[in-house]
Amino acid sequence: MSISMAISLLFSLLFLNISISSAASNPTYQSLLQCLSQSINPSQNVSTILFSNTNPSYASVLQAYIRNARFNTSSTPKPVIIITPLEESHVSAAVICSQKVGFQLKIRSGGHDYEGLSYVSDEPFFVLDMFNLRSISIDMTDESAWVETGATLGELYYNIWEKSNVHGFPAGLCPTVGVGGHLSGAGYGTLMRKYGLSSDYIVDAKIVNVDGKILDRKAMGEDLFWAIRGGGAASFGVVLAYKVKLVRVPETVTVFRLERLLADNATDIALKWQSIAPTTDENLFTRMLLQPVTRNRQRTMRVTVNGLYLGNADGVVALLSKDFPELGLKNENCTEMRWIDSVLWWANFDAGTPPTALLDRNVNDADFLKRKSDYVQTPISKNGLESLWQKMVELGNVGLACNAYGGRMDEIDDKETPFPHRKGNLYKIQYSVNWNEPGNETEMNRTSQAKALHEFMTQFVSKNPRRAYLNYRDIDIGVAENWSYEEGKVYGESYFAGNYERLVDVKTAVDPNNFFRNEQSIPPRTK
Ligand SMILES: Cc1cc2nc3c(=O)[nH]c(=O)nc-3n(C[C@H](O)[C@H](O)[C@H](O)COP(=O)(O)OP(=O)(O)OC[C@H]3O[C@@H](n4cnc5c(N)ncnc54)[C@H](O)[C@@H]3O)c2cc1C
Ligand SMILES: *[C@@H]1O[C@H](CO)[C@@H](O)[C@H](O)[C@H]1NC(C)=O
Ligand SMILES: *[C@@H]1O[C@H](CO)[C@@H](O)[C@H](O)[C@H]1NC(C)=O
Ligand SMILES: *[C@@H]1O[C@H](CO)[C@@H](O)[C@H](O)[C@H]1NC(C)=O
Ligand SMILES: *[C@@H]1O[C@H](CO)[C@@H](O)[C@H](O)[C@H]1NC(C)=O
Ligand SMILES: *[C@@H]1O[C@H](CO)[C@@H](O)[C@H](O)[C@H]1NC(C)=O
Ligand SMILES: *[C@@H]1O[C@H](CO)[C@@H](O)[C@H](O)[C@H]1NC(C)=O
Ligand SMILES: *[C@@H]1O[C@H](CO)[C@@H](O)[C@H](O)[C@H]1NC(C)=O
Repeated sequence: MSISMAISLLFSLLFLNISISSAASNPTYQSLLQCLSQSINPSQNVSTILFSNTNPSYASVLQAYIRNARFNTSSTPKPVIIITPLEESHVSAAVICSQKVGFQLKIRSGGHDYEGLSYVSDEPFFVLDMFNLRSISIDMTDESAWVETGATLGELYYNIWEKSNVHGFPAGLCPTVGVGGHLSGAGYGTLMRKYGLSSDYIVDAKIVNVDGKILDRKAMGEDLFWAIRGGGAASFGVVLAYKVKLVRVPETVTVFRLERLLADNATDIALKWQSIAPTTDENLFTRMLLQPVTRNRQRTMRVTVNGLYLGNADGVVALLSKDFPELGLKNENCTEMRWIDSVLWWANFDAGTPPTALLDRNVNDADFLKRKSDYVQTPISKNGLESLWQKMVELGNVGLACNAYGGRMDEIDDKETPFPHRKGNLYKIQYSVNWNEPGNETEMNRTSQAKALHEFMTQFVSKNPRRAYLNYRDIDIGVAENWSYEEGKVYGESYFAGNYERLVDVKTAVDPNNFFRNEQSIPPRTK
């Protein structure tokens, strides 16, 4: 244990003993308050941005951005204090003062981390919660936007749409995902085959470094700017805002959803999807869902293909009757709509829901979740698929979502950003299991099902390293105890392949004492 960890442990033990009394008698709170007061404009009341666990609003502030019920229990480790900055200088002060007081600082934007790493820790910690810093300013003259990291993807999409119906942004499907985690961890969505990842469109950024200084692209330099476009910014600093380039979308796009069961040749569809989906016209993105289901009291598999085509229905029907006639896509299966409505469609809103729904931050999805990921580089054979169906039906609760790569993704070099899974990767698999009853027994059952399926898939997926997507955070891949280079290499090469080394170099240069850390952060190179 380092000295600062020992000191912070001492503080928290001290703190736990007196947590029933008020914040006023809490020494950690007092030290933090005093330090912040010295760095923040004296006309501001610092205590309005601090929530210690005796504050009546503490639980609601903490829970507002918890998106996985697994980390919403009474035994989940909780921050000693939540800091909710209202302006950039508060972030700088929080970084400086957390170090002074000797606490770990977890950074939370949208709170969608699948393992709760933005608001849970094994060591005494504060949460820096970015939700108040969420302004978005769109500049149509150069087709760009400055987006503060506390904004959600839905807010970004909505703000773009207010300015233009022929512009969009290539990012994720879930509108409540935060810009901070998503863009710094890469970010993909239905525009990926046409345009690439969210991080491929970042042209500038503002970050608070370990000294509390605010740096833009020029001031931080190209190495750090490279690292925070897919390498996960939480290892390097607090990103305040990203400047992104917008992309063009047609006035009318087309969506479709087709479902098949095994009895309707679903296996043939899944087989062919693997070679067509990553190679067809880049205006077409498809996601194939593989799910065990019960039909007529029989367990079987359902294969669903959801698609977005950047063009009209006639265009995609003609394209797929040539490339993938077995899918049987007809005009009747297609819906033409505005791009902004396709965003709502992919997020499962009812048809006709107005775009303002994208501004809603308070969707209360209280499911328990586990996610894992894999990359497929060679299509799985028909026999392979049949064995997979058997395994999935036997396990019963885990589904797979296959997201087609190719197109623009094949054209960007592996080293251009930290995200290395480009050419040669046909599709990414997301393992998905949700449940809604609390308790260790169900949790163990579902997480071990996900692990068993992942184990079974070893034969079909990328190797040396077995690849994974950072934004599908999975602590089964490995966690740091001491942040040694070797510990970091395990998850670091899974997420970043050959880019792990450069990330370690950047970390060593910008945060050698490892203040910005989490269970899967990039370690500094020890000398
Ligand atoms: C329902 C759901 C749907 C999803 N859909 C997609 C999808 O379609 N495409 C996709 O690519 N991903 C998707 N994801 C994954 C998502 O991209 C990641 O979970 C992402 O990291 C979430 O960002 P956040 O800000 O909401 O999360 P947080 O939990 O707030 O943060 C995630 C990580 O980033 C760090 N971080 C956050 N903000 C900052 C900051 N300002 N500076 C430095 N570090 C920061 C945190 O410390 C943490 O390590 C989905 C997740 C969920 C739960
Ligand atoms: C500062 O804010 C806190 C909490 O909102 C309040 O209790 C306190 O009275 C305020 N102090 C001043 C000087 O306004
Ligand atoms: C967390 O728990 C609170 C009540 O204890 C509940 O209102 C909220 O919906 C829960 N959120 C999640 C994501 O489980
Ligand atoms: C697609 O359209 C055809 C022809 O109208 C119809 O038979 C079929 O059920 C549709 N499929 C889906 C999944 O809607
Ligand atoms: C399944 O494939 C068989 C043989 O190729 C074909 O005759 C049949 O029409 C297909 N069924 C469906 C539902 O597509
Ligand atoms: C849950 O149960 C498993 C197996 O019985 C045990 O190893 C694990 O420690 C338990 N976890 C918790 C949080 O109780
Ligand atoms: C997990 O739960 C399922 C029910 O969803 C049950 O059939 C199965 O036996 C359980 N597995 C284990 C290992 O407990
Ligand atoms: C971390 O360091 C501690 C103390 O030096 C040591 O006991 C432990 O084995 C280390 N853990 C790993 C995973 O290296």
